[in-house]
Amino acid sequence: MNLNTFISKATAPVNFITSWEAPSNIALIKYWGKEHIQIPKNPSLSFTLSSSVTKTSVNFKPSNSENFDFDFFFDGTLRPDFNPKLLTFFKNIEYYIPWINGYKLIIKSNNSFPHSSGIASSASAMAALSLCLMDLEKYLFPKMSEAFFYQKASFLARLGSGSASRSIQGPVTIWGENKTLKNSSNHFAISFGDGLNKIFNSYQDTILLVDKGAKSVSSSKGHDLMHNNPFAENRFLQASNNLDLLLPIMKSGDLESFIKIVELEALSLHAMMMTSKPYFILMKPNTLEIINKVWEFRTSQKLPICFTLDAGANVHLLYPLAYKKDISTFIDQELKVFCQNGQYISDQVGKGAIKF
Ligand code: DP6
Repeated sequence: MNLNTFISKATAPVNFITSWEAPSNIALIKYWGKEHIQIPKNPSLSFTLSSSVTKTSVNFKPSNSENFDFDFFFDGTLRPDFNPKLLTFFKNIEYYIPWINGYKLIIKSNNSFPHSSGIASSASAMAALSLCLMDLEKYLFPKMSEAFFYQKASFLARLGSGSASRSIQGPVTIWGENKTLKNSSNHFAISFGDGLNKIFNSYQDTILLVDKGAKSVSSSKGHDLMHNNPFAENRFLQASNNLDLLLPIMKSGDLESFIKIVELEALSLHAMMMTSKPYFILMKPNTLEIINKVWEFRTSQKLPICFTLDAGANVHLLYPLAYKKDISTFIDQELKVFCQNGQYISDQVGKGAIKF
């Protein structure tokens, strides 16, 4: 695709305020390994979540400068410690939004999930901010189509954090080129589109907070270590093949096959961490306790519950809405004990970002 279509023209600055809420997402096929800049080594697929969101408001103020500037507030407090990450993001996208020069941005953000829950907020945060930027661009260029609006929002978000490209739309999105999906792209995520089995529209994700502290190795560092991982090439191939296998399952709703791929992806992601140089482990003993309990419960109760993991110790339990009652009892009686302060977050698959 010709990326020049994403370059907008510069225009005279206007006063503008907008607010967007963007969800977090949980990958079923994992993105782990990338090239410069933010081009994934394999395609990934995720469930967009519903209640774990970032809300961001941006006040765009015309300034007399030829550059842009911003202040970032989190939970109502000015947080200059976020500036380096935001500056990298703005530098990555400036070429595509030249109109940004001449503005001072007042950015105010907060998350619905607890700050130190071990849940990465970069996906929802970069998505919400990108949507605010696109909202002004749509105001400046009102002929923009809705499809272009969301595609460019995902494109910009990706340049902030790869997984953020998948936090714009719902309920299932795919980022990265795949031969069976003709419109798939390494530059932005696309919606699963027609044919998604309806069981997945209300799929549940209970996030068991095993460890709420900061991770010992960041995702950026983890991605970087894939450059020297001896299993990397096979892993990229495995992820692509798993996506090919998962796509028809997302249509048929064959949960037995769904579970096998989702759990394999989670453990393969962590296997990459354990085989990097230097090696590292983000799972905790309680992560494994929970996994074993889930396997026992699934065998004894014959219910289609499975787990996935992101780059941390927390466990995402995935199951159909129809089994919520039985599985809530299981969580409270047998899994809660492995969570830090007994805490977990009940979320489910959602429809994507909204303006508020
Ligand atoms: C394990 O998107 O956080 O959650 O592009 O460096 O910001 P950056 O990485 P990030 O990596 C996400 C890794 C993952 C898998 C996934 O969401 O696909």
